Amino acid sequence: MEVSEDLLNEPILKIQNVSKSFPGTKALDDVTMDLYGGEVLGLCGENGAGKSTLMKIISGGLQKDSGKLLYKGEEVAFSSPRDAHLNGIGIVHQEIINCPELSVAENICMSVMDKNPKGFLDYNWMYKTAEEYLSRFNVEINVKEKLSNLSISYQQIVEIVKALLLDCSVLIFDEPTAALTEDESEKLFAIIDELRKNNIGIIYISHRLEEVFNNCDRVTILRDGQFIDTLNIKDVEVKTVINKMIGRELGDFYPEKAAGSDEEVLLSVRELTNKPSFANVSFDLRKGEILGVSGLMGSGRTETARSICGLDRKQTGSVFLEGKELSIKSYKDSISEGIVYLTENRKKEGLFLEMSITDNVSAMSLGEMSGKILMNKSLEIENTDRYCKELSVKYSEKTDKVGTLSGGNQQKILIAKLLSVSPKIVILDEPTRGIDVGSKKEIYTLIRALVDRGVGVIVISSDLEEIVGLCDRVMVFHEGTMMGDLTDKDITESNIMHMASGIAKGSNL
Ligand SMILES: Nc1ncnc2c1ncn2[C@@H]1O[C@H](COP(=O)(O)OP(=O)(O)OP(=O)(O)O)[C@@H](O)[C@H]1O
Ligand SMILES: [Mg+2]
Repeated sequence: MEVSEDLLNEPILKIQNVSKSFPGTKALDDVTMDLYGGEVLGLCGENGAGKSTLMKIISGGLQKDSGKLLYKGEEVAFSSPRDAHLNGIGIVHQEIINCPELSVAENICMSVMDKNPKGFLDYNWMYKTAEEYLSRFNVEINVKEKLSNLSISYQQIVEIVKALLLDCSVLIFDEPTAALTEDESEKLFAIIDELRKNNIGIIYISHRLEEVFNNCDRVTILRDGQFIDTLNIKDVEVKTVINKMIGRELGDFYPEKAAGSDEEVLLSVRELTNKPSFANVSFDLRKGEILGVSGLMGSGRTETARSICGLDRKQTGSVFLEGKELSIKSYKDSISEGIVYLTENRKKEGLFLEMSITDNVSAMSLGEMSGKILMNKSLEIENTDRYCKELSVKYSEKTDKVGTLSGGNQQKILIAKLLSVSPKIVILDEPTRGIDVGSKKEIYTLIRALVDRGVGVIVISSDLEEIVGLCDRVMVFHEGTMMGDLTDKDITESNIMHMASGIAKGSNL
């Protein structure tokens, strides 16, 4: 029998007029869109646009209020994620939701135990299967290790590998690269390409538009819970996608840079060492400059920041604030001195997801930890409110649990909280991870405003474009040492990459 063109071209998944409300929020408003087998469909939208909510509905984690899902031509409603798996729909969640106390192998194989030929708890099979799938990322992960002992990038890989095992016809990736290195991301794109060739329908969510443009066939844009448009990647410009996402022209993305700073030194670090992470790190942070820190993951950037703030111990070295040597033994000491740190790992260390926004803001670490020296609570709360407004944090009630906010909005709350104590020095580790383009701009503007007000800001980032666009001076780390710094016109992606790979500044290599 001849199969008609139309049937071959039938979408694998049709989302029709789907709506979903939470108390106080209409997260999805009559969304209609399609996914075809063998395509990678990008899904873009600002923080809180409804992307994750829609994906959870498709993959059985949430129930829609109204509308239809047609999968392989039939109407479906999955009662649970497991129900969706069994029908061939898998998801890699934005927020890692594995079991931290179990081993890597147990986490990876959890959903596919029934495929194990020898029965339920055959550990050898689990180890072998986990190793085989992890090898696609070419990383050295011990499959017997407890998951919580892994870095976030490795935990993310585990989450991805777990979904790859499911044999899906539709696979959803919700911000999969937010915690991955560039190398690991490339491996993921190669895997996605293979899946596409096997006729799997893929939905790919990312705030990194470059990734969407390099890896997707089409892109669907959501705004405020509504479907805006679907476009062929090859026919569209990045600018158009951004404008559709935010509903206006973005204008200049980065604030104007400072004209070289010879102002007073705010923070001095001398010969700071904590082997094997980093050794002999020395630098000055001047008033009026945004100091960027670049380098590959694991090059010692985060570890240096954590030592400065008393989150990790230092072996030797000194830290001076406004000329006075500090003796910081804990993060509490650091906050008392006015030095705060935005963690790159908000889920593990940053926020209490089960607590309300108010409680996170008022009862959380800073106020409690900083004790007597610090600020009164009401000022802290007032400040947080102000920064939440400045950063346009999207929530319905302040009594909402932080865990119900979209990923990007959680990050903004964390930044607002950090600034609420009126710090002198702010160290931001990957501040715009998971943040949409419009909000990124708000964060950059805020950083520039802080610096103009005399606050010292250090930005650690793996996003080279961000470092180049935002920072007045850039220090580059390589394998635990500082390779040097770049200013003005020397701040280029290529110079940074050279230094990050260990080639000295000014070398002709
Ligand atoms: N369980 C929940 N309870 C209450 N509100 C929720 C819940 N989950 C999501 N929301 C709200 O629904 C809206 C859409 O959130 P969603 O997580 O889908 O956004 P998103 O597009 O994935 O954003 P991001 O890019 O920041 O991840 C937000 O306003 C969010 O606060
Ligand atoms: Mg999301």
